[in-house]
Amino acid sequence: MTDTSPRLTASAFLAMSLDGYIARTDGNLDWLLEAGAELGDTGYDDFFAAVDSMLIGRNTYDIVAAFDEYPYAGKRVLVLSTTLDSVDWPDATVHRTVDDALTTLEREGRRHVYVDGGTVVQQFLRAGMLDDITVSIAPVLIGSGVPLFGSLDRDVLLELTGTRDLPAGFTQATYRPLRSP
Ligand SMILES: NC(=O)c1ccc[n+]([C@@H]2O[C@H](COP(=O)([O-])OP(=O)(O)OC[C@H]3O[C@@H](n4cnc5c(N)ncnc54)[C@H](OP(=O)(O)O)[C@@H]3O)[C@@H](O)[C@H]2O)c1
Repeated sequence: MTDTSPRLTASAFLAMSLDGYIARTDGNLDWLLEAGAELGDTGYDDFFAAVDSMLIGRNTYDIVAAFDEYPYAGKRVLVLSTTLDSVDWPDATVHRTVDDALTTLEREGRRHVYVDGGTVVQQFLRAGMLDDITVSIAPVLIGSGVPLFGSLDRDVLLELTGTRDLPAGFTQATYRPLRSP
């Protein structure tokens, strides 16, 4: 029987230093937050409104869990981790593998997942499972930190689908990874 159910869309939306880092090594985002007030509308609110679920790595979970305000209200959240057993966020579960998380999302009929965390985005890119990625590039070099991109067995080609200048010298680019034939 042909599967006619719509496929799950996977998107990423991150801010990155010009030299390719999404956080300092200790998770500090000072280089990004300092520009935050000036940045204004980056399109994040519309992006966030369009997803029905989130798949995040445990390191991202650790950082977000320390926030004063819970930022994922109303979204189904799946945390990838081999070390956590559970999380006490509303409508959130822990998954040991990407496959298990994707099976859960599909079983629940989710349509659009926001993939977040450097290693998680890298795995989706490597596996050809990311539909689009928006990167807001900060005009700063921080020298070291958590990389957005990592090593690859083969090149990943992407189509540039949009660019725009943001305040504070940021540039935003959106890409659609091209699927291998
Ligand atoms: N600038 C931005 O836009 C932005 C966006 C998101 C995050 N960040 C920052 O980036 C940092 C987090 O990124 P990161 O690359 O260090 O880590 P991450 O991807 O958030 O989390 C990595 C962890 O997730 C778990 N994991 C990943 N893949 C897995 C798999 N296939 N199966 C099971 N578990 C898996 C593992 O946890 P266990 O060790 O528990 O197994 C792994 O150590 C934080 O500092 C965060 O604030 C920045």
